[in-house]
Amino acid sequence: MNRLTIRLETEKDYRAVEELTREAFWNVYKPGADEHYFVHMMRSHPDFIPELAFVLEMDGKIVGNIMYTKAWLADEDGNRKEILSCGPLCVAPAYQRQKLGKLLIEHSFDAARKMGYDVNINFGNPGNYVSRGFVSCKRKNVCFMTHGNYPTALLVCEMTAGALDGKAWTYIPSTAADCCEDTAAVEAFDATFPKKEKAWMPSQEEFYIYSHSSVVR
Ligand SMILES: CC(C)(COP(=O)(O)OP(=O)(O)OC[C@H]1O[C@@H](n2cnc3c(N)ncnc32)[C@H](O)[C@@H]1OP(=O)(O)O)[C@@H](O)C(=O)NCCC(=O)NCCS
Repeated sequence: MNRLTIRLETEKDYRAVEELTREAFWNVYKPGADEHYFVHMMRSHPDFIPELAFVLEMDGKIVGNIMYTKAWLADEDGNRKEILSCGPLCVAPAYQRQKLGKLLIEHSFDAARKMGYDVNINFGNPGNYVSRGFVSCKRKNVCFMTHGNYPTALLVCEMTAGALDGKAWTYIPSTAADCCEDTAAVEAFDATFPKKEKAWMPSQEEFYIYSHSSVVR
C-alpha cells in the first residue's frame, strides 16, 4: 500500500521540488517551462509564505507540492485586504488525476484558514480549479487592473463563505512571479537541469485562450 504524507517543505527539499515542478509544467503552458525558476526565486521573496509550502510524499518520494504568496484586494475606498495566491501547484505526471492535487489544496486551505486567511485568488486553467470551489472573478466582483476587467483565468475561492460579499474589489498580485520575465535568467537556471526538449502541446493554445480573454456578461 502507498504511504501518503503531506508536510511542510524544508530546505533539503528545494531541488527535488524544483525538479518536480519542471517535470509537471514542462511544455504544458509554453514550450519548456519557467515555473521551476519561479519556485526557486519565490522562496526569498518577501511575499512568500513558508508556513504554506507543502510537499506531498508517496512512500517517501516527493510527488506533489503547493506554494503560496501573499496578494491583496483593494475595495472601492482603496482599503486593502491581504489574501492568498496559490501556485505553483503540481503533481508528478505519473501521479496526476488521482486526487492528489485536491488533497494538497484542501490541506493547505485548512492551514491557511487557521492563519486567518479567507480568500485565495490565482490565475489558472479553470478546469483544474472549478471543482475545488473556485469561481470566475466576475462572480465575486473582483476585477484586475482596470474597472470592469474580469480575466477568464482569474479564479477566486472564498475559503470562508461570504468573505467578499457586499463590495467591489481590485486584485493586486504579488510581484514574486515577475522574476520569470528575465528569460535569460530562466534559461540559465534551466541549464542546471538535465536537457529536455521544448515542444508545442495543445494545452498551450488552450491556456492562451484562457489567459487572453475576459468574462464580459
Ligand atoms: C493541475 C494538477 C495540479 C492537478 O492535480 P491532480 O492530482 O492531477 O488533480 P486531481 O486528481 O486532484 O483533480 C483535478 C481536477 O482536474 C479536473 N480533471 C480531472 N481529469 C482531467 C482531465 N483529464 N483533463 C482536464 N481536467 C481534468 C477535474 O476538475 C478534477 O477534479 P474532479 O475530478 O474532482 O472534478 C496536476 O494535473 C498538474 O500538476 N498539472 C501540471 C501543472 C499545472 O498545470 N498546475 C496547475 C497550474 S494552473
